[in-house]
Amino acid sequence: MSAPVLAAADEVVELMLEVPQGQVISYDLAALCSALDITDPTRIAVETDGTRRAIVTIYPSNPLEQMPPPSPQDMLMDRHGRIVMGRYHNGRPARRRLFDPRTGSAQRALVFGTTGAGKSRVVQYTLACEKRNRIVSWYGDLKGGQSAPEAEDHVDWYATSQEEVILMLRAAVAVAEARQRRYKALGRNAFILNDPDPLISVRVDEANRLLEKGSPYRDEGTRLVKELGRTGRSVGVGAELDAQASHLEELGGSDTLRAMLKEGEVTLLRWSSSMMRQLVADGLLPATSQLMPIPKTLRPRTLRSQFDPDPDDDEDDGPGTHGMGYLLSGPHPTALMRHWRIGSIAPTPGLDPEILTLYGPGEPARLETASQEAAGEAYAARHDPAAMAALCQTLWLDTQQAAVIPIEGGAASGRSTPRRPRLEDRLLAVLAAAENPMTAEDILDAVNADGGRPVRIGSIRNCLGGLADAGEVLRTERGRYAPAR
Ligand SMILES: Nc1ncnc2c1ncn2[C@@H]1O[C@H](COP(=O)(O)OP(=O)(O)OP(=O)(O)O)[C@@H](O)[C@H]1O
Ligand SMILES: [Mg+2]
Repeated sequence: MSAPVLAAADEVVELMLEVPQGQVISYDLAALCSALDITDPTRIAVETDGTRRAIVTIYPSNPLEQMPPPSPQDMLMDRHGRIVMGRYHNGRPARRRLFDPRTGSAQRALVFGTTGAGKSRVVQYTLACEKRNRIVSWYGDLKGGQSAPEAEDHVDWYATSQEEVILMLRAAVAVAEARQRRYKALGRNAFILNDPDPLISVRVDEANRLLEKGSPYRDEGTRLVKELGRTGRSVGVGAELDAQASHLEELGGSDTLRAMLKEGEVTLLRWSSSMMRQLVADGLLPATSQLMPIPKTLRPRTLRSQFDPDPDDDEDDGPGTHGMGYLLSGPHPTALMRHWRIGSIAPTPGLDPEILTLYGPGEPARLETASQEAAGEAYAARHDPAAMAALCQTLWLDTQQAAVIPIEGGAASGRSTPRRPRLEDRLLAVLAAAENPMTAEDILDAVNADGGRPVRIGSIRNCLGGLADAGEVLRTERGRYAPAR
């Protein structure tokens, strides 16, 4: 590496570094600071191209210490479908894609970060941008509505429990399938923005609570997200997960989910110690690219002798680093960026007026009428707390019932305990009795005619998906199903 460069206190210094051909560039931040005699590592930004070259920029002070709020212009999609999320360390705009007009693709996105890193503020900003761009936002918050309370009246669907999020994801999959059928009938092979349908964005904040091991809805949640990734992209239904998961095993752990998120827009905010290793292991981050760690605060560490008077009592922690991160799928994955200042830093007693202003006046965009039937009763009940509670209760009971493993023959009397047939068994019996492959709707009618407990189309679809994944049911042409044997 070249020798340290001396610069005036207010100058920015940029070093272009290159290792000999055949070697891969890597660096040790502490060694670099020591070589340059810099005590505050947040004044340095290092970007590598993952092979031989790096740019090291040394600033008089951290260039991202103060962030302004976004301007209305930043919030509007440009002709490439991108909005400005904040700035890179060199002052250039940091953009993220909400839509790809070249291919008509809705986006899949993942926002990772440790607790307090700023995920929910990123969510609020993106939701506000979606509202301004007339995108239909379906937002689920598994912290019970605490993460982004200002969003409630500014999105089309605001879900706050695991059950409601499952109902929302089921509806999203059903809408994607309905659009698929409708577009096929129109002779369309791609989604065209607002012609005739709006883009839909389905987002789950604290998604790890739904998808981690032990969650009652892990399997179904994973399957629905996977399904949405598969069908949604080309019919204008995007999906985003926001999570503090350190690795994908906590996000359902499925290969399809992994593949879907690898292709998506990935934002990494401040991470915990194990996160980076896991992101590399999960293939979300190439092993060769190195990211400068983001400290919790911007106060440089100073050594104090025990004989010094102790001034620490009065010192606070220094400015936080919330909102700092990396846009891993953007053109500069190793360049440190920071999101705009979203809302007040200090907690506000009620809803934050600065955040409400970001959403602006007026109603959010709504799901097109043509898909409302497919979205089903949960969509119709989303603003009716009593009706929604009843649907959530039914879902919970269905899940409890499915989770009970029947005791066969173990009763003290020696007689076997009769059990209600599980939905899987009822569904397989219907398919076995049919002469031809059946649609989900036909199966629903036949199952409901077998004298057992009434079920809904969502449970049938869910059960069919599970049986198809397990290889017990075959998907045939035109959305029909047949027994595998
Ligand atoms: N872009 C931002 N602008 C202003 N303040 C921010 C920003 N991002 C984060 N903050 C501050 O950091 C706090 C935590 O942010 P946020 O709730 O978004 O974190 P989180 O990653 O969602 O955390 P958790 O995992 O606990 O939900 C906020 O209450 C706010 O004070
Ligand atoms: Mg949060």
